[in-house]
Amino acid sequence: MNTTSTVPSTVSLGNNGPQVTPLGVGTWSWGDTLFWDYGKEYNENQVREAFQASVEAGITLFDTAEVYGLGESEKLVGKFARESDIPVAIATKYFPFPWRIFRNAVTDALTESLQRLQVSSIPLYQVHMPFTFFMNQETLMDALAEEVKNGRIEAVGVSNYSAGEMRAAHEQLQKRGVPLASNQVQYSLLHRKIESNGIWDTAQELGVTIIAYSPLAQGLLTGKYTGQEKPTGARGIDPKFKPSGLQKISPVTNCLRQLAEKHQKTPAQVALNWLVSRGAIPIPGAKNAEQAKQNAGALGWQLDAEDTQELDRASEPWLR
Ligand SMILES: NC(=O)c1ccc[n+]([C@@H]2O[C@H](COP(=O)([O-])OP(=O)(O)OC[C@H]3O[C@@H](n4cnc5c(N)ncnc54)[C@H](OP(=O)(O)O)[C@@H]3O)[C@@H](O)[C@H]2O)c1
Repeated sequence: MNTTSTVPSTVSLGNNGPQVTPLGVGTWSWGDTLFWDYGKEYNENQVREAFQASVEAGITLFDTAEVYGLGESEKLVGKFARESDIPVAIATKYFPFPWRIFRNAVTDALTESLQRLQVSSIPLYQVHMPFTFFMNQETLMDALAEEVKNGRIEAVGVSNYSAGEMRAAHEQLQKRGVPLASNQVQYSLLHRKIESNGIWDTAQELGVTIIAYSPLAQGLLTGKYTGQEKPTGARGIDPKFKPSGLQKISPVTNCLRQLAEKHQKTPAQVALNWLVSRGAIPIPGAKNAEQAKQNAGALGWQLDAEDTQELDRASEPWLR
């Protein structure tokens, strides 16, 4: 695996695709009451401040999806983007629901997303899951390629696709002269499977950008969960946040703490910098300005080769 020596201020999604910041903001928790408890400890005011703090810090890539908060996340991102003087890049996702059988489902879903986002086009449209039982991959990719030709989307991405699924999507799009720009997958120091299951290598070979979701392992890598306090929402029943789960990951969190001290950064910033140094684009979720500002501070400095090796070693059990 290559670690980049310098991180540019923008990176391309795929070969010669849209230019975006090397780190983005995930907005699943914006408007989502089911998993994240939106509306209880944080609300529209806090997430608007998270948006503004990100943009002010130079982070302008926002990842959302039609299913996040049942459309609420897209609405909030669209509203904040309109309020902002600085242009932002919005990536959203199409969900392959079982009733979406015909190719016009893609056209209709995109129309609705663009309406919620209050824009006429977006840089990246991603397929949320590789469910191809209802609409086959050929029809789906053709419909997406058509939207690129129509100018409503600049690039096509996928999410949660295996190496084989990614290759098939890439081949199908290529027939229409459209590259596959990205694969959004779970990737963090506590989830490194893409390095061993062929996803990373295939993405490199095909020129597909890896967008790393849950890059802070849903908050675990910030080091703030120590077993005393329960995380909000569905994470409250997740064994990973219980004392025994936290004990298991302590080699990684301890290493992050040491490196954070060495570089005068926070563990979250170190965890995100590790991903950026590999050439992945992390999209940490931020619920307020403080988190957004802190996450943006993962850019502008670099872990050295020795540091990344230490993190590689500490997180080796999470390679498989
Ligand atoms: N394609 C997919 O299938 C898929 C799946 C999952 C996620 N995603 C995308 O990836 C994005 C990020 O993933 P994620 O939200 O699951 O997890 P994450 O980014 O690893 O963790 C986000 C959570 O960590 C805490 N946090 C973030 N920054 C912090 C900081 N600086 N200091 C302290 N705590 C901080 C916040 O929760 P607390 O403050 O409550 O701890 C925040 O909601 C999502 O928003 C979404 O856009 C995509």
